[in-house]
Formats: sequence, C-alpha cells, structure tokens
Amino acid sequence: MPRIIVLPHHEICPQGAVITAETGESICDAALRQGLAIEHACDKACACTTCHVIVREGFDSLNELDELEEDLLDKAWGLEADSRLSCQAIVGDEDLVVEIPRYTLNHAAEKH
Ligand code: FES
Repeated sequence: MPRIIVLPHHEICPQGAVITAETGESICDAALRQGLAIEHACDKACACTTCHVIVREGFDSLNELDELEEDLLDKAWGLEADSRLSCQAIVGDEDLVVEIPRYTLNHAAEKH
C-alpha cells in the first residue's frame, strides 16, 4: 500500500503527515479519508483548482494528466511542473511526497 508523505501546510497539517493510499485511489480521496482537509470545491469533478498539489516525488507513478486537468492547472496558484489536481491524480504503486500549496485560488481571491 503506497504511502503519501504530505509536507507541512500551515492550516491543513502544520507538522506534515504520512498517510496511506490504495492503488487506484486519488490523492484527494486518500487525504480526505485520513482527515487531511484538502479543499475540493467542485466535489472532485475536475472543475476547479482548489485541490491542487505539487508532487515532489513519485510524479511519474501517477496516471497521465488529461487535457481538462492541464487547462485547469494553468489557472492554479503556484503552478509547478509537477503540479496535479489531487482529485484527478490516481495513485500507482509507488510512495509519493506531496506538497499542498500555501494558497488556492479561493484563498487568493479572499486576499488571505
Ligand atoms: S476538487 Fe475540483 S478539481 Fe479537484
């Protein structure tokens, strides 16, 4: 069962966290199941950017991005080469290291 190391995030997990994921499950589902409140404003329908994460290790073990996810990611706050929408990123059989960006577009709009 792959592990996901979640790097510290000021609100969601100030100390960081280590969670487990089922192969075939999304990063978002694994995180929510284990109490990490990743935002998911569109209810995981690939229609927002609030579930954005940066996959620091294990990116290549995930499923491929589709065009819709790529288009949405272009609008995400803090986009990086290894960015994914966590509700669309399906865990393979490798461990991952994931960073939750400091802001989502929702936050940025609220001027936090
Ligand atoms: S929750 Fe909206 S795209 Fe993931």
